[in-house]
Amino acid sequence: MNTETISQLPKAELHLHIEGSLEPELLWQLASKHQVSLPYQSVEEIRAAYQFEDLQSFLDIYYQGASVLRDEEDFYQLMWRYLCRCREQNIVHAEIMFDPQTHTERGVGFEVFMPGFLRAIKDAESQWGMSAMLIMSFLRHLSEEEAMDTLEFAKPYYAHITAVGLDSSEVGNPPSKFERVFARARELGFKCVAHAGEEGPPEYIWQAIKLLGVDRIDHGVRCEEDTELMAYIKMRQLPLTVCPLSNLKLRVISAMQQHNILRLLEEGLLVTVNSDDPAYFGGQLNANYQALCDALDMTEVQLRQLAINSFKASFLDDSIKQKWI
Ligand code: HPA
Ligand code: ZN
Repeated sequence: MNTETISQLPKAELHLHIEGSLEPELLWQLASKHQVSLPYQSVEEIRAAYQFEDLQSFLDIYYQGASVLRDEEDFYQLMWRYLCRCREQNIVHAEIMFDPQTHTERGVGFEVFMPGFLRAIKDAESQWGMSAMLIMSFLRHLSEEEAMDTLEFAKPYYAHITAVGLDSSEVGNPPSKFERVFARARELGFKCVAHAGEEGPPEYIWQAIKLLGVDRIDHGVRCEEDTELMAYIKMRQLPLTVCPLSNLKLRVISAMQQHNILRLLEEGLLVTVNSDDPAYFGGQLNANYQALCDALDMTEVQLRQLAINSFKASFLDDSIKQKWI
């Protein structure tokens, strides 16, 4: 498939961690601005260090990288650079995750990062008309009480947050640990998503659905191991936000040829393509579509269906979705 076809297709991105869009160049620049010492001597060394064995080995480096984000302008720059990449790739709508606890734990509060994020989003909306929503993700290696505190700290910004999510180290931190905080978030009117079935078993996907009441599953690729679960996800048309290059880099699969996304698509599941943490996994959204084309002989019909699915699975109003479907 032609790279041009991929890049010209209007797309939505639904699974993107803004902290995971921090490119080595900006990381380097901010480390020098704030005099943070890094265990690397150059931008090239940073990039070379991005080799992972699994989710945890990635998360260790990802949290270390995020520590250079200190003031409002840093968060503006981070968001602005991602939104400019959206423009280049014809991503017309993005639902962007942020991890408040990665920042509040080191004394950087909502009053620092939220104004930076919101100003960048406003600039992109006014300059080229793209839309963006924010998903506040709780770190699952921390306690439910800390997630509850985070939900409380976010109060002044509720109007600017569309959904809550759950990310970080999956195995050993099942969705059941966060039942109360998700119930509270639903009461407050937030949409809910959760990472499940990336490294964790199908049981975690069931829990995200049944105990957290999620509207979407992030990753979810291990649903294929449970036929009943697959049938249920299909029946409900619960979207899966799949991240091919992430799955390869974190060794959820050992080769792109093994990726199950097209099998899930042909089964009738509402799967979408996303970049997860593009600065760390070696490709933006269009590169993820390209990798599927190259490894799986994806047809143009399948490509177009995946792009349509990205709008169907979004939290946009139905009237706006119609424009893209
Ligand atoms: N999985 C879990 N947590 C994360 C990820 C991911 O792919 N990316 C950033 N935080
Ligand atoms: Zn993710």
